[in-house]
Amino acid sequence: MNLIKNMLAAPAVVLALWAVSAQATTNDEIAKRLEPVGQVCVQGKECKGMEVTASASGGGGAKTPDDIIAKHCNACHATGLLGAPKIGDAAAWKARADHQGGLDGILAKAITGVNAMPPKGTCADCSDEELKGAIKKMSGL
Ligand code: HEC
Repeated sequence: MNLIKNMLAAPAVVLALWAVSAQATTNDEIAKRLEPVGQVCVQGKECKGMEVTASASGGGGAKTPDDIIAKHCNACHATGLLGAPKIGDAAAWKARADHQGGLDGILAKAITGVNAMPPKGTCADCSDEELKGAIKKMSGL
């Protein structure tokens, strides 16, 4: 039993040592590594990386339509993959909206999923409002 424990522990120790030695040694180096994130967020510009972290940890920061589209919807809706209505193809979106009873109608379909369109367009933690914002932006409705 002890032997097994030792065998399991050994690689962990090696890893820990490697991690320590791989760390930046000077404040300058550390500052440099942090620079992109620190700069972007401190100056209040777009901070996409941070938003992902915030929402993943349940911070509840609202996602912007652009973020949602870039991360979840673009994959299919940018090119019309699998028959998805293309971003900016207002006529295609309008035809769908007319068919489903308006923006809320296609929102409902987007939430449940329809054919090759996955439920919530793969944005499982998107609220209905957030999805609606993304749909508005893609469709121009
Ligand atoms: C895996 C590919 C894929 C992804 C990712 C995806 N969609 Fe779709 N979407 C589709 C396809 C395919 C359709 C057309 C489905 C059909 O009518 O057969 C569609 C249709 C829709 C429709 C119209 C539904 C209707 O009633 O006609 C909406 C609204 C929509 N998508 C929203 C979104 C949003 C918002 C996202 C991102 C959060 C997203 N989709 C991500 C593939 C995708």
